[in-house]
Amino acid sequence: MAYTKAILILILTLFCYSSPSLSANPTYNVQSFGAKPDGKSDCTKAFLSAWGAACAATAPATIYVPKGRFLLGSNVYLSGKLCKNTAITIRIDGTLVAPSDYNALGKTEHWLQFERVTGVSIYGGTLDGQGAQLWACKNSGKSCPKGATSLAFYNSNNIVVSGLSSLNSQMFHILVDGCHNAKLINLQISAPGNSPNTDGIHVQQSSGVTIMNSHVATGDDCVSIGPGASNLWIENLACGPGHGISIGSLGWDMQEAGVQNVTVKTATFSGTENGVRVKTWARPSNGFVRDVLFQHVSMINVQNPIIIDQNYCPDHQNCPNQSSGVRVSQVTYKNIKGTSSTQAAMTFRCSSSNPCSGIKLQDIKLTYVNTLRRPTVAYCQNARGSSSGSVYPRSCW
Ligand SMILES: *[C@@H]1O[C@H](CO)[C@@H](O)[C@H](O)[C@H]1NC(C)=O
Ligand SMILES: *[C@@H]1O[C@H](CO)[C@@H](O)[C@H](O)[C@H]1NC(C)=O
Repeated sequence: MAYTKAILILILTLFCYSSPSLSANPTYNVQSFGAKPDGKSDCTKAFLSAWGAACAATAPATIYVPKGRFLLGSNVYLSGKLCKNTAITIRIDGTLVAPSDYNALGKTEHWLQFERVTGVSIYGGTLDGQGAQLWACKNSGKSCPKGATSLAFYNSNNIVVSGLSSLNSQMFHILVDGCHNAKLINLQISAPGNSPNTDGIHVQQSSGVTIMNSHVATGDDCVSIGPGASNLWIENLACGPGHGISIGSLGWDMQEAGVQNVTVKTATFSGTENGVRVKTWARPSNGFVRDVLFQHVSMINVQNPIIIDQNYCPDHQNCPNQSSGVRVSQVTYKNIKGTSSTQAAMTFRCSSSNPCSGIKLQDIKLTYVNTLRRPTVAYCQNARGSSSGSVYPRSCW
């Protein structure tokens, strides 16, 4: 009996050790495709080859980027078009570096770009967008390229990005456009407060996007939400410096998809230009914003903690009627506390042709940081709503 058992164990052991390929999923180390972690050799080809190999695999596959700096010198276009694999993990221990000369990326709008992929998960890693030269060009008023978004997902499904750091993007850090079901979690996003157009995460034409447990410090919106975003969930976000969370700008186009079912739960804004904002062009449009909840939000020295601005029209150009067609309704602000760096702690500047409706305020306390102890105030224009609990400054309803 003991003898039989021993043989059985031996056979099982041999089987397990001799045929790992039966159980293991393939891992493709970018270094075995020629990538060099020296920060100088362009690794674009090696990354594309690793992507090709992972796509060709039929089992769930991993692309591994070890420690070190990997220069990716051009648009890294990772397409799902010929990809059979719907479970690709990209595990990054190192840093992916963009060229510091912005002319190297030229007019490309994206640095790392995924298109039509399904089931891609990125874990860890740092993206260094090296945007400083481009920002300097933009800030000097010269004509410069628009710049590249560091990480973009287009028309893709079932995406996970977790534990990634994005530094100093030329333009947006992360873009999610035309996607369904994306989880962006444990992200550290950073660029200087004066870096132009460096939005942290921009989401549009997408549903089921979750942004959680992340810290965004940047020069533009921490999260910006464009047309066609729905079922968006943002939880545990720290924002600042930056321009806050912004729904919009919306309403540039006459025909525009609406924004629907957005939840922001537990967020802190520190020294930001806005806290939670809805912003639309003062132009005709059939767009809308509805079913939005901002809850458990802490404001620290924020210029416009709560703001709806439907009169957006820089330089008074391109806005023939000075009134926005975007219908804003059912926006709830619940448990929003802290300090405003201006007296206007709450502003509802809604469209004269399409007044806001169903604005709900509950348990708001926004005080003025100024030591003179002046009160904060609420401005309302063309806005209908209701208050409950204790609301300070006193609102318009
Ligand atoms: C709203 O979006 C959340 C995800 O953010 C989802 O769980 C919920 O079902 C959506 N509600 C409706 C009515 O679609
Ligand atoms: C401007 O507003 C008027 C009504 O005030 C409306 O009839 C007209 O269609 C609007 N023009 C545009 C370009 O939307």
